[in-house]
Amino acid sequence: MSNQKVIKELLDKGILPTSENIEKASQEEVVIVKPKIDDLRARLKIVKEFDYKQKKITPADFTEHYRERYKTLKNILFNRPEAATAVSIERAKQGFGNDDQIIIAMVSDINRMMTGTIKITVEDLSGQMDIIISSKNNDLIEESKFLTLDEVLIFKGRVMRDVMFLQEIILPDIPQQPIHYSPEEVYAVFSGDIHVGSKLFLPKQFGTFIDWLGGNVGNERQKEIAKKTKYFYIPGDLVDGVGIFPGQDKELAIGDLRGQYEELAKYLAKVPNDKQIIICPGNHDSGVRLEEPQPRMKDYAESILELPNVTMVTNPSYTNIHAMDKYKGQDVLMYHGYSFDRLIDQVEGLRLAGGYEKADEIHKFLLKRRHLSPTHNLNLTIPMKQDPHAITQVPDIMVSGHIHKANIGSYKNTVSISGSCWQSVTDFQLKFGHVPDPGMIPIMNLKTRKSNMLSFK
Ligand SMILES: [Fe+2]
Ligand SMILES: [Fe+2]
Repeated sequence: MSNQKVIKELLDKGILPTSENIEKASQEEVVIVKPKIDDLRARLKIVKEFDYKQKKITPADFTEHYRERYKTLKNILFNRPEAATAVSIERAKQGFGNDDQIIIAMVSDINRMMTGTIKITVEDLSGQMDIIISSKNNDLIEESKFLTLDEVLIFKGRVMRDVMFLQEIILPDIPQQPIHYSPEEVYAVFSGDIHVGSKLFLPKQFGTFIDWLGGNVGNERQKEIAKKTKYFYIPGDLVDGVGIFPGQDKELAIGDLRGQYEELAKYLAKVPNDKQIIICPGNHDSGVRLEEPQPRMKDYAESILELPNVTMVTNPSYTNIHAMDKYKGQDVLMYHGYSFDRLIDQVEGLRLAGGYEKADEIHKFLLKRRHLSPTHNLNLTIPMKQDPHAITQVPDIMVSGHIHKANIGSYKNTVSISGSCWQSVTDFQLKFGHVPDPGMIPIMNLKTRKSNMLSFK
């Protein structure tokens, strides 16, 4: 074998091509270990979770939490070139009359006046400032429909008498993501909101999906895809829970929480062990606290935990799937999506973009803000030093559930996936005109990075 070839093979194997190693390798048959193309073992890594040890929470913890959130988002915003000339609010007020003053601040109030003018109050660690959007600036008026309280943004404008007249808003945003393709044809499916225990749970449809995963349903190609499906993400609401809302007991077919998980375990036990099931809790999983971050499910769900291919993670969490030689795998951000209801209610731009019908628009909104729950009142949050909702790491795939409406989209190459549900329409959803779409399964081929919808209606 030529020296060049030996060096290349040593480098491929990650061995330093020293003269000693080259000589040794030249004398032996070099066996190159490559991942076999038919070696479709699941590869799952937990990348980031949010653990919180319960303690007495004081008002100071919230002050600290918001201070840290401001710092985290400010650091992300410093990646934007515009941030290079940013000054504190106190300094901006001293630059009276100057155009192009730039501040990084948190929105503390939004006031829409009868005249069409919008007054935003913002603050940073040095003080507070009012920002005016002229009713004549149509672009900014449109952008203002997406503004929400507590988000941290770059504001650029002319400062006069302690007030900024806004010229531009710059969001933290994510950069365009490089695309990584798996060398193997392997699939991930995404489906939460099973709501076992509810009278409206759809056992026949869910059972067919589980049978498909087991390779027992569909034509040859569909069975082949099932065989190559190695990752099954469940973004919360596994069961309907107990005591989630007043009068829920009348809507339950299984009235005890442990019994609900035991029923679900019977289905999940049929999923072949070569498929990894990754689970985070949702607001109906009443065995864990509602405040986010929610811990891994443990109590009451013992029957699920006993399954050999189940991995419990926190809500939210980051995992990585199918990384191998020269392939970094896919980083998956999973969040149940409890903040989405109030977001849709409070952000006019999201309602105009399609509301519950367009989970990809919600994901885009959150990725642009680098935060899963930008406004304080969207959900119950534990005031941790490390903000669990800040999107500090840009995912390849962002998956959520909660709104019971399947959707696939993409923003700057981050694939956005919303799972549907296995529960037919509830009275609560009817009241709000929200029509869920049960039995739809987003599936992604990691080799082509194309996603599709499977129907089990
Ligand atoms: Fe749900
Ligand atoms: Fe939910």
